[in-house]
Amino acid sequence: MARLAVNIDHVATVREARGTKEPDPVLAAGIAELAGAEGIICHLREDRRHINDRDLQLLRQTVKTKLNMEMAGVEEMVEIALKTGPDLITLVPEKREELTTEGGLDVMAQIEYYTGITKRIKEAGIKVSFFVDPDSRQIRAAHKCGADIVEIHTGSYSEAKSDSEANERFEIISAAVKCAVDLNLDISAGHGLNYLNIKRFKSLPQINEYSIGHSIIARSVLVGFEKAVRKMIEIVRDF
Ligand code: PXP
Repeated sequence: MARLAVNIDHVATVREARGTKEPDPVLAAGIAELAGAEGIICHLREDRRHINDRDLQLLRQTVKTKLNMEMAGVEEMVEIALKTGPDLITLVPEKREELTTEGGLDVMAQIEYYTGITKRIKEAGIKVSFFVDPDSRQIRAAHKCGADIVEIHTGSYSEAKSDSEANERFEIISAAVKCAVDLNLDISAGHGLNYLNIKRFKSLPQINEYSIGHSIIARSVLVGFEKAVRKMIEIVRDF
């Protein structure tokens, strides 16, 4: 049985669109846990475009399952992580101009650097996951750096424009999963997974956890919309 960890960044994105206090990603995390999610993920970006330092602190105090802090492997974030103590760190590449994390981490190019970061984080009792493309060279590099987990980037599969492209890309993910299994790494997967394209992953039981954000937030806006409109109508009709 695989686990679901919910990425709550987009709740904060909506809050930041207005610069107000709602919706609060901390409350969303609690609701996700009440619904059965086995982990909460937030990405503290260097530009704080959605999740901010206050959110991270409160999430650390309130998340009862497992707090996974996604971050770039830069000194500022390493220090915040060591101070905050999430259960897990996921190292991701980060570009200011991107809308969301684009590719996987190029671990191969910086093995020594990431080995150093991994060692510091693990010494603090925090697990380390590397977000990598489904590429055996990157998976082996993550293993070499001391990763506990690899999160396989499913973006290329979820963005496939045809069935044959999706088949091809799913096969690449399957091969990456096999490589991670051979290295005894714990395996997660995520990016762009939704209520339809995730179904195929039933054939990959070696993936222990799925990190999903956008499709859940997108669905919740629509699923909850009618109820929210009805409530406001009830208030104004009483005037
Ligand atoms: N995993 C990582 C490393 C991510 O950066 C993201 C996006 O924030 C996700 C998973 C979740 O992707 P999505 O929001 O498309 O479900």
